[in-house]
Formats: sequence, C-alpha cells, structure tokens
Amino acid sequence: MKIIKVKNNLEAGQYAAAMIKKVINANPKSVLGLATGSSPVTTYQTLILMNQANEISFKTITTFNLDEYLGLDSANEQSYRYFMNNQLFNHVDIDLNNTFIPDNEDVLNPHKYDDLIAKKGGIDLQLLGLGINGHIGFNEPGTSFESLTSIVDLTESTIEANTRFFADKSQVPTKAISMGLKSIMNAKQILLIAKGENKAEAIFHLVEGKITSKWPCSILQNHANVTVIIDEAAASKLQENYDSK
Ligand code: F6R
Repeated sequence: MKIIKVKNNLEAGQYAAAMIKKVINANPKSVLGLATGSSPVTTYQTLILMNQANEISFKTITTFNLDEYLGLDSANEQSYRYFMNNQLFNHVDIDLNNTFIPDNEDVLNPHKYDDLIAKKGGIDLQLLGLGINGHIGFNEPGTSFESLTSIVDLTESTIEANTRFFADKSQVPTKAISMGLKSIMNAKQILLIAKGENKAEAIFHLVEGKITSKWPCSILQNHANVTVIIDEAAASKLQENYDSK
C-alpha cells in the first residue's frame, strides 16, 4: 500500500488526477471506477481542466460508479447520477452512454452490474472515498468480503454524515445500491482519498489495523495495488511515520 500525504484538497486532487491521466493515456479505452461525495471533487475539477487543455480525452473511456441511493431518480439533485453529470460528465468529452451508475433497473438483479463491469474488461482504476465508519462504496461494517453489487441499508452514522447534503435528516434515503467489497477488490488498481480528522480512525484501520469486517476498508490491505492519499489530519492516528509526498 502506498501512502501519499498531501497538504490540502487541491494537492490531493492534483495527485489523483495525475494518476488517472496516466491510466487514460496508457489505454484510451480504460474503464474507471468512480465515487461521489466531497473527497473526489478536486480530482474531478483537475480532470476537467486537463480535458480542456487536451491533455486527456474521455471519448473512449467507460466509467462505473460505486453506488446510488435507492428511490432518488436521476433528476433529483441529491442523486449520484445528478452529482456525476454536474461534477464531471457534463464538462468533459465523455459519451454519457458509457457512464454507468447502478440504478433502479439493477435493483431486481444487482449482480448484473458486476457482469457488465466484467464484460467491459474490468475496472482499471477504482477511485474511492472513505466513510467515517470505514465504509467503502456503501459497504457498511459487517458487510461480507465476498459481496458483489447489492441493495444495502445505510447505517445511522452514514445517514448522519450525509445529512449535510439534504434539507434535513428525514430526506436522506436509508437504502442504496452499492458495488460490493469483492466488486471493488476486483479492480486492477485502487486509489482512495481521505481528508480530515473525522477519517483518522478509519485510516488507521485501513492502513495499520487488523483485517476485519468491522472496518470494511481494512480489506484493501489484501489488494496488491492501492494508493491512499491523505492529509495530516486523516493521518493523525497512524503509528508509523509515512513521508510526505
Ligand atoms: C460515494 C461513496 C462513499 C463516500 C464516503 C465518503 O460514492 O461510495 O463511500 O466515498 O461516504 O464521503 P465523503 O467523500 O463525502 O467524505
């Protein structure tokens, strides 16, 4: 596992976007796994600038997002489809037909999403954020390491954390459809971004803790190609000293 310490959000985004650029330029038909939430926003902003400067093209790129709330359609401003269109897809030269987000059609047969990922050749690079409770995707504590895409219940702590994006807590969906831990582990390369003190405990379990389903992120220790980008605050509970970038 490679640990990259950065000073701020902007630096995190620049580092992550540079890694994604490398993947895209090595193979213009790459498959990217994408995340929503606050962590990848500066990455997407940097990718947009790179696209505008003709440093990268998304024309033949395929993307799969990790998750979507159940019960919110794509026109809802809080849906992850809306987020992705707004934060990235509408500003780059990607073909929207090649951007996949688990949706209501997948609810009846969620594993179809994993089949589609496999059909497209598998995910070359999976971008992840990290939940305060150690979730990746919406795989909450206790999720099986063997899980594929499925319908999941969000925990109280996740609902609480996501209330900031909604008018009030009662509006936050309690269920989502999420790629599973196995779906994530199938990616060839993983890039996780975590910032702030409230992620420090999860970062400790991800990097130095015991591998346990109580901290779903700890499964990443079993993956051969993981890069973790963190700021000082998120790194504050690590016992070992990792050099800054
Ligand atoms: C989002 C996702 C979640 C978030 C996590 C961190 O698609 O799957 O796991 O990455 O909840 O969210 P932020 O980045 O908002 O702190």
